[in-house]
Amino acid sequence: MLTIQSIAELRTQLASWRNQGRSLALVPTMGNLHAGHLHLVEQARKHAERVVVSVFVNPLQFGPGEDYDRYPRTLEEDRLQLEAIGADLLFAPLLTEIYPFPLAESTYVEVPVITEILCGAHRPGHFRGVTTVVAKLFNLVQPDVALFGEKDYQQLQVIRKMVTDLNFPVRVESVPIVREADGLALSSRNRYLNLQERALAPLLYQSLCKARDAIVGGEKDFVALSRQAMAFLENRGLQPEYFEIRRTDLSGATADDRPLVILAAARIGATRLIDNLSVP
Ligand code: PAJ
Repeated sequence: MLTIQSIAELRTQLASWRNQGRSLALVPTMGNLHAGHLHLVEQARKHAERVVVSVFVNPLQFGPGEDYDRYPRTLEEDRLQLEAIGADLLFAPLLTEIYPFPLAESTYVEVPVITEILCGAHRPGHFRGVTTVVAKLFNLVQPDVALFGEKDYQQLQVIRKMVTDLNFPVRVESVPIVREADGLALSSRNRYLNLQERALAPLLYQSLCKARDAIVGGEKDFVALSRQAMAFLENRGLQPEYFEIRRTDLSGATADDRPLVILAAARIGATRLIDNLSVP
């Protein structure tokens, strides 16, 4: 596996693969790789002959007071894991390569409307940071296909919208959520949890399952369901941010809509976790 930091070197290597007619998959990450990320890389293999994984902790998608400074950076471990599962290229650029100018003076990409709800309402500017860096990565790598996890369901929809609106010649593929045995969705942020917090964390998934079972069982009052789920989480020591039942394109749902997706975000201590579950 090649490890490349500089954009110039990346372009040279990718040009050579393209000249050989190789198809390219891109898996964008912020590193500290876990089995969820590695699953994306394995799936990428099935879609293209060369798999590029980017590791870049993107400052533009963190708000003031969020965890940019303490976000886990484990590049050497990431490199070994990627090598072991057969990725072809690790692109781990320096901050100054991606953002040579002050962030406040940089051009950005912003998807409206769909970014104003759910996580977007609680993390102003977050999705603008995501779409800007993903657009840059698409321009740098020019992949045939890019893979994203359903764990970040809203992010996936936002990126699909950007690709459609800006005519990126990139196919977006999604990969199901990888979970721990107790249901907790894998996340780089899980490592912030102390033992007590870790014991509470599966409640987020449990609250989603309860709501799904109620809907499947015929419950039609989604407002009441969401309120009950927020109360369930609060009573057990989490600080829920939102718990919403929506159509799969994230527009508002009425009782008879199907399929649906239930999305939730909650804080446990200082750690913010998100999860979602579909209702077929
Ligand atoms: P990061 O949180 O590192 O996630 C990278 C990719 O892994 C995302 O597509 C995410 O949805 C996926 N992923 C994370 N946990 C997962 C799990 N448990 N199961 C399946 N997939 C999972 O998402 C980002 O980075 C950034 O916003 C990025 C897109 C790289 C832009 O900076």
